Amino acid sequence: MRLGQTVFGADFANPVLLAGGTAGYGRELDGILDLDRLGGLVTKAVTREPRAGNPPLRAAEYGAGMLNSIGLANVGLDAFRTEKLPWLRERLRSARVLVNVAGAVVEDYVAVVEGLEGEEGFLGYELNVSCPNVKEGGAAFCARPDLLEEVVGAVRRRTRRPLIVKLAPNLPDIGATAAVAVDAGADGLTLINTFPGLLFDVDTRESVLGAGTGGVSGAAVLPMGVHAVWQARGRVDVPIIGVGGIRSGEDAVQYLLAGASLVAIGTATFADPRAPLRVINELRRYGGRHGIEDVHALIGGGIVDRSKGTG
Ligand SMILES: Cc1cc2nc3c(=O)[nH]c(=O)nc-3n(C[C@H](O)[C@H](O)[C@H](O)COP(=O)(O)O)c2cc1C
Repeated sequence: MRLGQTVFGADFANPVLLAGGTAGYGRELDGILDLDRLGGLVTKAVTREPRAGNPPLRAAEYGAGMLNSIGLANVGLDAFRTEKLPWLRERLRSARVLVNVAGAVVEDYVAVVEGLEGEEGFLGYELNVSCPNVKEGGAAFCARPDLLEEVVGAVRRRTRRPLIVKLAPNLPDIGATAAVAVDAGADGLTLINTFPGLLFDVDTRESVLGAGTGGVSGAAVLPMGVHAVWQARGRVDVPIIGVGGIRSGEDAVQYLLAGASLVAIGTATFADPRAPLRVINELRRYGGRHGIEDVHALIGGGIVDRSKGTG
């Protein structure tokens, strides 16, 4: 099965990316994984100022996945531009880079994008709009259409690069939210971010994470992610990056069938940093088994026959 495709105006060697926040700035994987064998990577969040992040424990495994609250720890815009981006620019030949951007107010997102516009070495931006807006009582940007429209519109006016908006899964109508993002200027969507979660240490009765609550990722969220992509696909016509719980080539196929053009892998890389390469191989084998010549034939090919029930 041919895995290459053109998405966001750029060639991707295959549909598999590393998910935002789970692979550092790429360099962390040097020597472990040849990044150019992937379709690309999404960087760790970049914020206007450096962030120390949350107190430990920042991540905890449980039976069906992982709970984390890293708190967007990152080096900040200036260090990203001078220390991290040059490595990506000089070392990567074919892997595409998306810069994950986060902020607490609209101006933060704008500042990061304006600060990177003159730089080379990356394709576009992935806006993490699950962040709480501190001017609006902590409501997530994507939880309110007006806030979402404002942040996407403001960034859109500052860049012609591909602008991909990453939504949280815990929204009442993800299709409607996807439409708001696209109407405001998004060229694509990433679905999904982590799902809110909480676990206690049952001996001490304290939350296991230092920050209290966190986000659930890993195997548990696979069906939520696939569902979100499928719902968004029914409403908007831009490329979607499907992410959440992918551990195998067949998990990736789930997202493609729901309508994703690309997929990203996060939690699975903590157990095995080379998991994305295995997923690519498994995808190819899946295509061979099913006589599929081109990955395009899978995208949006899932069948949901609603006449058979109401669920
Ligand atoms: C440790 C960790 C850090 C993350 N950091 C970010 C981040 O900085 N920005 C972001 O948009 N998503 C972040 N995410 C969410 C992932 O990109 C992804 O959407 C989510 O984990 C679901 O995919 P997975 O099940 O393959 O991990 C993070 C996830 C984890 C587990």
